[in-house]
Amino acid sequence: MSINSFGHLFRFTTWGESHGPALGATVDGCPPGVRLEPAMIQQWMDKRRPGLNKNTTQRNEPDTVNILSGVYEGKTTGTPIQLMIENTDQRSKDYGDILNTFRPGHADITYHQKYGLRDPRGGGRSSARETASRVAAGGVAREAIKAIAANVQIKGYMTQMGTKKIDPAKVDWDQIDQNDFFCPDAEAAAEWNDYLAWLRKDDHNSVGAIIEVVARGVPAGIGAPVYAKLDTDLSAAMMSINAVKGVEIGEGMAAAALTGRDNADEIFMGSDGPEYSSNHAGGILGGISTGQDIVVRFAVKPTSSILSPRKSIRMDGSPTEVVTKGRHDPCVGIRAVPVGEAMMACVILDHLLLDRGQTGGVRGSIG
Ligand SMILES: Cc1cc2nc3c(=O)[nH]c(=O)nc-3n(C[C@H](O)[C@H](O)[C@H](O)COP(=O)(O)O)c2cc1C
Repeated sequence: MSINSFGHLFRFTTWGESHGPALGATVDGCPPGVRLEPAMIQQWMDKRRPGLNKNTTQRNEPDTVNILSGVYEGKTTGTPIQLMIENTDQRSKDYGDILNTFRPGHADITYHQKYGLRDPRGGGRSSARETASRVAAGGVAREAIKAIAANVQIKGYMTQMGTKKIDPAKVDWDQIDQNDFFCPDAEAAAEWNDYLAWLRKDDHNSVGAIIEVVARGVPAGIGAPVYAKLDTDLSAAMMSINAVKGVEIGEGMAAAALTGRDNADEIFMGSDGPEYSSNHAGGILGGISTGQDIVVRFAVKPTSSILSPRKSIRMDGSPTEVVTKGRHDPCVGIRAVPVGEAMMACVILDHLLLDRGQTGGVRGSIG
């Protein structure tokens, strides 16, 4: 069983727990000859790492990534790449009182029901610290993509916090890294900042979010028609992230309310090949990329660990109330942005490699 692994040809396996000595990813299937230095991965780790600002968890981890194998003189060798991130700021005493209690919204109860035992420190394997390993694997994928399809750009951002949505017309990629929220609209970011401060400090509460991830410049013809559709793999990738409860491609759920006329992305012949009037399909038709932006959206639930008391039970079945102290993200959507980008990078690289293996780059000509 490979239930800790993801991907077909570019495949990574994550390992480790929240409060163990370290965690990481073993990346297999990366092509040889890709330039890879720790700093190339670290830039993405730094976007996800905790303690960056007041709007994320105050656990302070440098999340320094160590490359233990698979790279020689700054280039990948085609052998497994072992990536390791040390845990340095564990405070297991924060979790002492939940040893025998199931926290609502957490995996404590299901891990216990399934395995009969669990590492309760920081949620053990169910902690979103696991996502640091994915971001590291995604950093490798980004470098390998550059070597195969240099024009690909991958960008994630938050489009909604709670009920507060951004205006799609105001999306400006240049704004994304200018605020704490990876929000592409400066005005919305300022509003979110005040809202989250109130929610965290005064209301002792948390809130959900929607994240959009776009892959631009992906050539047409990447993907597969049936069981490894590009949209199937992207959905699995995003749905595997902690706290994700919904995934959409392109128009997504809203497509149900459209008519066939509204939803048709009409095709025209442009000077450089086919062009489309719109992108309701999210850049994928029949599981295969069209060459338009690939657009994936996912919803994360509100952080379960909050300072407001919630009813639960202990392991012996007796009732209790849980107030989660410790250090938590008031909106997990913020740090989920680099995680979504990493998963997009891994899927796109995987499909670039699959396509190279099956078709060798053969394409049907148009025009
Ligand atoms: C980047 C990221 C950070 C998270 N941080 C927290 C947190 O601080 N507190 C919390 O209760 N949940 C947090 N979560 C969500 C939990 O890990 C998740 O809800 C829990 O493991 C149960 O899994 P499920 O929601 O996928 O069913 C985070 C999720 C992500 C993606």
